[in-house]
Parts: sequence; C-alpha cells; structure tokens
Amino acid sequence: MLAVEGLVRKFGGLTALDGASFAVAPGRITGLIGPNGAGKTTLFNCVSGLLPPSSGRARFDGIDLSGMAPHEVAALGMVRTFQLARGFPRMSVFDHLLLYGRRQPGEGLMQALLPGAMARRRESELVDTAWRVAKRLKLEHVADHLVTQISGGQKKLLEIGRALLAEPRMILLDEPMAGVNPSLRQEIAGHLAQLRDEGLTILLIEHDMPLVRTLCDEVIVMAEGRFLTRGSFEAIALDVRVQDAYLGKRH
Ligand SMILES: Nc1ncnc2c1ncn2[C@@H]1O[C@H](COP(=O)(O)OP(=O)(O)O)[C@@H](O)[C@H]1O
Ligand SMILES: [Mg+2]
Repeated sequence: MLAVEGLVRKFGGLTALDGASFAVAPGRITGLIGPNGAGKTTLFNCVSGLLPPSSGRARFDGIDLSGMAPHEVAALGMVRTFQLARGFPRMSVFDHLLLYGRRQPGEGLMQALLPGAMARRRESELVDTAWRVAKRLKLEHVADHLVTQISGGQKKLLEIGRALLAEPRMILLDEPMAGVNPSLRQEIAGHLAQLRDEGLTILLIEHDMPLVRTLCDEVIVMAEGRFLTRGSFEAIALDVRVQDAYLGKRH
C-alpha cells in the first residue's frame, strides 16, 4: 500500500534518511522501530508531504507522492496524527473533531460551490462521522467536555480521532501512546487492533517493545536512516544486527 523508495533527507551536513526503502502491506499493523535518531519521524514527515525528501520517493497505492502537500496525500487516503497543541482554544471534544473534519481537503472550495441544501447535507454527514468516530473511540461520554478537561489517554484518542475524520485507508502513528499509563496504553492498543480488523492499514512508530510484540503483525527496523530488516517481533528480537543497532556498534 505504501512503498518507500530510496528516501534521502539531509539537514545541512546531517543525513537523517540515507536511502530508506521498504513497502507496507495493506490491512495490517506494521511496527516501525529503531534507535533514537534512526530517521523514523523524518520518514513520516517525508511520506506525508510535510517535508520534501532530498531524493527518492514514496508511493501510495502506486501513486507517486513527490511534490504533494499533506492535504493532497490525505485526500488519497493516508493521514498522520499530530499532537494536540498546547493552549488550544477552549473547545469541546466534539467541536474539535468537527473542526478537523471541516478542514478536509478541498472543503472550502466545495462548500463555496455547493448549493445550500447540499452544503447542509455535507455538514450533517460530517456530524454523523464525528459521532461515529467519537463512539468507536469511547469518547462520546466526554464529547461535550473541554479538550483541556479530558485525561491524557483521552487526548491521545482524540489525536487518533481527528485523523479518522478524514476516513483514511492508512494512518501513520508516531508514538501514539507516549506518556500514557499502561492500562490506557492497552486500551488504545485495543482500538488500534479493532481498526486494523476493520481494514485500516496502520504504520506505527512505538518504543514499548511488549506492546509492539502483541500489537504488530510485522516489524520493520530502521537504523542510521536506512532499512535494516523486517519480520515477526520474535525474529527481529533475535537478530544480532538489530541488537547491535540498539546497543551501538561493536568495535
Ligand atoms: N528539522 C530538523 N533539523 C535538523 N535535524 C533534524 C531535524 N529533524 C530531525 N533531525 C535529525 O535527523 C535525525 C533523525 O531524526 P528523527 O527522524 O527524529 O529520528 P527518530 O524519529 O528515529 O528518533 C536525528 O539526528 C535528528 O536530530
Ligand atoms: Mg521520532
């Protein structure tokens, strides 16, 4: 579904991505792991249209994403999550979901061109979608709470919920459970497994190895800006090259 082909990204003299290549199969949760600084987040930024790669490309469903802006990539069906900004306006959970739904690609132009009745129908579809997303993430009970009042775990779910408003086929999650307590991590993991079972393709950067083991159908390992290896969690955990990458090179 997603193919990364020789992605290179430099920041001045530093090479964050050094020819990363791999493909992600549909309908699964693929873990993306690797030591700090391996280039995982930079890879997400490059494939989602946030940062142009220095060279190489990514394809989604065979379509070359080169030069596309994030909203164009999202329109094809691939979205990434963003952390809730601090000091966000006092807004309810539900309004927050709607706001992101309204910001969908081309919406401004579409609303301008749609006759009144059609625009209202689009709006009511959006409300339906927002409720569906809130229910599936068990956020409906806090739908009218202010974003500032919900728990850390619920904030993480809301980050995922915003991405789901775009009704994507694939989502990119960068440490979606960072800073969340273990029982809420399990709950978020349960939601991700259910989304996968319903056909969503998930690429997940995660540091919690027990969680990667239980949740991911396959794991891709990156080191020093490149693809290192892939396989089941059990297989990669035994791989000496993976151990070396995490422990630092032996001399
Ligand atoms: N915007 C940036 N400017 C300069 N260096 C960056 C930038 N983003 C990332 N880097 C560097 O690129 C390398 C890879 O970072 P990153 O993609 O965040 O790794 P990971 O997510 O695997 O920990 C690191 O050395 C990091 O310091
Ligand atoms: Mg990172």
